[in-house]
Amino acid sequence: LKKMILDLDTGIDDSLALAYAVADPNVDLIGIISSYGNTLVTTAAQNSLNLLHLLGADNVPVFIGESHSSTTDHFDVMPISQAIHGKNGVGDVLLATSPQKVSTQSGVDFLIEAAHRYQDELIFIPTGPLTNLTAAIKKDPDVAHLIGNTTLMGGALTVPGNVTPFTEANIHQDPEAADFAFTHQDNLTMVGLDVTLRTLLTKKETAAWRLLGTTAGEKYADLMDFYIDAYDKLNIDKKGAALHDPLAVAVGIDPSYVTTISLAMRVTYDKESGDYGRTIGDKSRLLEPTTTKAAVLVDTQRFVNDFQNLMLSVLNT
Ligand code: BDR
Ligand code: CA
Repeated sequence: LKKMILDLDTGIDDSLALAYAVADPNVDLIGIISSYGNTLVTTAAQNSLNLLHLLGADNVPVFIGESHSSTTDHFDVMPISQAIHGKNGVGDVLLATSPQKVSTQSGVDFLIEAAHRYQDELIFIPTGPLTNLTAAIKKDPDVAHLIGNTTLMGGALTVPGNVTPFTEANIHQDPEAADFAFTHQDNLTMVGLDVTLRTLLTKKETAAWRLLGTTAGEKYADLMDFYIDAYDKLNIDKKGAALHDPLAVAVGIDPSYVTTISLAMRVTYDKESGDYGRTIGDKSRLLEPTTTKAAVLVDTQRFVNDFQNLMLSVLNT
C-alpha cells in the first residue's frame, strides 16, 4: 500500500480531502502536516486532529508546518477566507476536541524523514501554499528527487484564477515558494482550478450524509452546507461548491481521473507589474523533458460518484 502525507490548511474542502484519504482503502495515510491560508497553521492542525477523531482515525499523527509565507514573517487570515470557510476554518461547526496532541516533530522534518524512508512509495498532497514543501527541499535537496508523487491542489492554467484573473489562492499565498517547488520537485502534478471547478457538490449529496444518522455525517453535512451557502452568497458558483482539495487526493491515488499535459512550469512573482502568482509554461524549458504535469480535463461524473460513495462509507461510523 502506498503511503500518503497530506499538507492541509484545514479548511472545509481540506476537511473533505482528509476524509477521502482516511476512507480510500488504496492508500495508507501516515500523517498530516498543517499549513496556513484558510486559517492559521495552529487552527489548521487542531481542525485536522478533531476531524481525525470524528472519523475514528486518531492513529494518524498531525505535524505543525510553516506559519507564514517564505517572504513574510506573519500571516493573517483574510476576511474572504473566513466568509468561505468560517472563522474557525470548518464552517463555524463545533467539533469535539481530539484527545490527541500535535506531534513534537516539525512538519518539514517529518516530510524529509518520510521522503527518505518511503521514496517512490510516498504520495505527497499539498492543498494549501507550497511553503512546507519548499522549506523541506531547501533543508534537504534530496527531497525533490525522493518523493514518488507530489500532487498539489493549486494554480490555474486554462481558466481564470480565483484571487486575481491570473492567480489561484494557494499559489497566491506564497508564489516564491511555489516557483521554487515547480522548478525543483520531480514528478509534480498540478490539480488546479482547470479541473476542480468542474467537480461540484450540492446539498443533495450532503442531505444523504445527514441521513446516515451518525455524528460524523451530521458534522460533515453542516460544514459542507456552510461552504455551499458561501459559494452561493458570494456568487462564486450557484450550482454547487468545488471539490478542490479532495480531487487532488483522488488524482494522487488514481491519475486516470484527469487528463494531463506535460509542461515545465514556473510561478510568476513580480509584484510591481501585477504578474504575481500565475502558473505558466517555462519558456526556457520548453524543449526539455519534464516530469511536471498539469491536469486540464477531469472525468467529472466518475469522480463525484466515487467521492460520494467514499464519503458515505467513512461517515457511516
Ligand atoms: C484552494 O484555496 C483554499 O481556499 C481551498 O482550500 C483550496 O485549497 C482553492 O483555490
Ligand atoms: Ca486548501
